[in-house]
Amino acid sequence: MLPFRTLIAISKNSGTPVYLQIANGLVNLIREGIIKPGTALPGSREMAKLLEVHRQTVVAAYEELFAQDWVETVPRKGVMVAQHLPDIKARTLKKTPGIPAYAMNAGFSFHKMPAAVSPIRMGEYRLLINDGFPDSRIAPVELLMREYKSLFNKPSMKQVLMYGSTAGSPNLRAELGRFLSDTRGLNINVGNIMMTHGAQMAIFIAARMILQPGSTVLVGESNYFMANIIFQQLGAKLIRVPVDENGLDVDEIARICKKKKPDLLYVIPHHHHPTTVTMSSERRMKLLQLIREYKLPAIEDDYDFDFHYNSSPVLPLASADHGGLVVYIGSLTKSLSTSIRIGYLVGTADFIQEAAMFRRMVDTRGDNLMEEALAVLFKNGDMVRHLKKSVKLYHERRDLFCNLMEKELGELVSFRKPAGGMAVWARFHKRNPLPAIAAKAAAKGLYISDGASYNYQTDSQNALRMGFASLNEKEMEEAFSILRSVM
Ligand SMILES: Cc1ncc(COP(=O)(O)O)c(C=O)c1O
Repeated sequence: MLPFRTLIAISKNSGTPVYLQIANGLVNLIREGIIKPGTALPGSREMAKLLEVHRQTVVAAYEELFAQDWVETVPRKGVMVAQHLPDIKARTLKKTPGIPAYAMNAGFSFHKMPAAVSPIRMGEYRLLINDGFPDSRIAPVELLMREYKSLFNKPSMKQVLMYGSTAGSPNLRAELGRFLSDTRGLNINVGNIMMTHGAQMAIFIAARMILQPGSTVLVGESNYFMANIIFQQLGAKLIRVPVDENGLDVDEIARICKKKKPDLLYVIPHHHHPTTVTMSSERRMKLLQLIREYKLPAIEDDYDFDFHYNSSPVLPLASADHGGLVVYIGSLTKSLSTSIRIGYLVGTADFIQEAAMFRRMVDTRGDNLMEEALAVLFKNGDMVRHLKKSVKLYHERRDLFCNLMEKELGELVSFRKPAGGMAVWARFHKRNPLPAIAAKAAAKGLYISDGASYNYQTDSQNALRMGFASLNEKEMEEAFSILRSVM
């Protein structure tokens, strides 16, 4: 009998389940020729004794080997190493003569997106001033992964893997409902929430459900360009309304509605994109009145509500009595990391039920496992603790960033300290065009936007959003020193 206990290394602290460690250990012994094809392995009871593990663990290991074709079960003999071992030789991907290369271009014409949508390859830069992203380095990844992994050991796992509501994990929706009620005063339940892959998907689905080709949408001038693109791609016409330091010009909206009611209003009242301004409470009240008076459907995009520094956040329009007219959108991508693609759409139960069906056109359901893991972080308070920590840190970073910008760039740039969010809207002096600054900074390893996306279909503003949340003090100092040197 082979000394299996010494040949197979088992660590109870390893992230790999013990049964897999045993299966992998046996595969190595077979591959190295220490156990020959046709050899009978010890029965599960005996092997369990040899390895000092539970018998079920050995049974699971043998099942794994069986599933991978390393062993076969022979009646009255037990588990034997397979006579024909699985082919594990690496295949070479040599070019085979006679097989044509895959065509470079499609042989048909297809719909193309505006150039503004092109992704920016920020990963290529040493240092980044992004559009206003969170610092993924502080995201509670360990906690999230702990919950994610533990899902696999839960009896309910099968269900989580196989089924799942198109509207998203009921556990997360329930937790989120409580969180949104505590933080935003939204009086909602599970049936009012659909999880999405970020706020972006939520905007698309809501717009797709409300708009028809030829519809009209009220948007700010300027506005979040990806929302404008969605509306236009759906065949709608934009009606642009000025935005000043108090938010959307609500009197202008009243004049427009009086002439002809638009089909939709898209509003970002908390921290407008791109300018980051917070809509005054007087304008909010007026806007809500207009929404009710004209029965004007509204998408309220509150993508970074949780990050407000000067005062308590202002409650969303959706928390007031709006007669089912306001669809509310939020995101957890700003609270954790832009790569953890979880956002949500809040609306009346009939709207959300239908939204889940619309979603099926592009996505059967969301990331159920990640949603389940996040639900636990909400439930045990980790998420709220993380948000508190982030708000404190980003508050400090906002102040530091604004001080440094004032000191290093002085009169070359004009900006207002934002009340919240993760970016400062900075206008550069005309004698320093942003494309030139961006190109020179890139040569020194710093990514900064050339401002083009903020000018989508509007006059050049020579302005950009400068994200401060993801930069520590040292990185900010280096970024400003580069900017100073290129301006
Ligand atoms: C105003 C606004 N809405 C929606 C989004 C999309 O957010 P998400 O990453 O959650 O899809 C963004 C992204 O920055 C945004 O600025």
